[in-house]
Amino acid sequence: KQQAERQSILDTLRLGREQLVAVKRRLLEEMTRGLARETHSSAAVKMLPTYVRSTPDGTERGDFLALDLGGTNFRVLLVRVRQGRRRGVEMHNKIYAIPQDLMQGTGEELFDHIVHCIADFLEYMGMRGVSLPLGFTFSFPCHQTRLNQGILLKWTKGFRASGCEGEDVVTLLKDAIHRHEVNVVAVVNDTVGTMMTCGYDDPRCEVGLIVGTGTNACYMEEMRNVELVEGNAGLMCINMEWGAFGDQGELDEFCTEFDRLVDERSSNPGKQRYEKMISGMYLGEIVRNVLLDFTAKGLLFRGKLSERLKTRGIFETKFLSQIESDRLALRQVRTILQHLGLTSSTCEDSILVKEVCSVVSRRAAQLCGAGLAAVVDKIRQNRNLNHLQVTVGVDGTLYKLHPHFSTVLRETLRDLAPQCEVTLVQSEDGSGKGAALITAVACRLREAGL
Ligand code: BG6
Ligand code: GLC
Repeated sequence: KQQAERQSILDTLRLGREQLVAVKRRLLEEMTRGLARETHSSAAVKMLPTYVRSTPDGTERGDFLALDLGGTNFRVLLVRVRQGRRRGVEMHNKIYAIPQDLMQGTGEELFDHIVHCIADFLEYMGMRGVSLPLGFTFSFPCHQTRLNQGILLKWTKGFRASGCEGEDVVTLLKDAIHRHEVNVVAVVNDTVGTMMTCGYDDPRCEVGLIVGTGTNACYMEEMRNVELVEGNAGLMCINMEWGAFGDQGELDEFCTEFDRLVDERSSNPGKQRYEKMISGMYLGEIVRNVLLDFTAKGLLFRGKLSERLKTRGIFETKFLSQIESDRLALRQVRTILQHLGLTSSTCEDSILVKEVCSVVSRRAAQLCGAGLAAVVDKIRQNRNLNHLQVTVGVDGTLYKLHPHFSTVLRETLRDLAPQCEVTLVQSEDGSGKGAALITAVACRLREAGL
């Protein structure tokens, strides 16, 4: 009987094919609404123009600085891009911490810190005083009217620094630098940086996907469909900000009480609902809420609620990934649970915890796959093709660390977008490389007076 009760709770977290088809269809509708001038302002999925008009073609060259803010790590990078016979990219980078209180303090403090890190990095590289064009990977929703400006629409992923929303992040950076000159050439979302990074080696790469702390995608859209930008010729990369899908109730019928709890207790309730069902920052919290419920109902840990389980954030992505690894014996799952302070667990408890993790991450991968199916099918339809061959550049800790996420994602994609032959390529170089490539092109156009 207890087993039936557990399964009926877990069933609320299982999605059928029909539901996934509905997710894909609704996202496609939202994409169209986000692109159209009349419906854009009320659309949940913002479909932001990026002013990136092409993927790399191998003619990029030069030395650039890049900043990469918004994922697990904040990095400053020096990127050297060579063309011709020695074509290739050489990168040096340093990771800096962004302490919690800086994420939630004032914008001034945050940007002062960033500037401090740039200065430290230049010193470290022995390049003090050198001024290089800079590409800024800033992985938050930004309204852009040109490449070198980005107005932050809303913080996501737990960032809350005051005085930034509604402001141009390039201006914030310049203000923090005071007298020192800095030549910010491009503001780039991490999805776009990732697409460009992978596009440097694979010309078929026209989609960027992130499944990490947050989740999002970008892709090359036909200019004629991008109604917010003048002109009809060619393509433009669109930063979808698909994490916000569901913010107008599109996903309500698939949400469980656990999703609602995670949302309510987040720093941005009601926002980023799709992201909260998929990405690394939230999956562990969903799992924890299920475990809390099971325990309260006497279905787990002999009904004993530990203080530890009541603590937010204990299930980091890396633990989820470890627990679900097939190579792991149950005894080891128990060790992880013990490490998490859940000491009184039995062998059955371990089996159940593993099952909860796998149901939650499977749903995440399926939802993500349904979203990606919408994106590749949109590209296919745009080009009136029966069959589309396309590459997706992917990055993010959840995608990279989790043992089954990419497999389930692929399965779902194959099922929901059968007319598309999709190659998923994992980015090994982060999005800073892509930001530098975008900066290179922009510098060349600038010099040519275009
Ligand atoms: C990195 C990018 O490779 O992937 C980051 O360079 C990006 O900018 C990140 O945000 C996403 O992964 P995570 O897991 O660190 O959020
Ligand atoms: C969040 C951000 C988005 C970013 C994504 C992945 O959804 O709003 O800009 O691309 O996280 O890092």
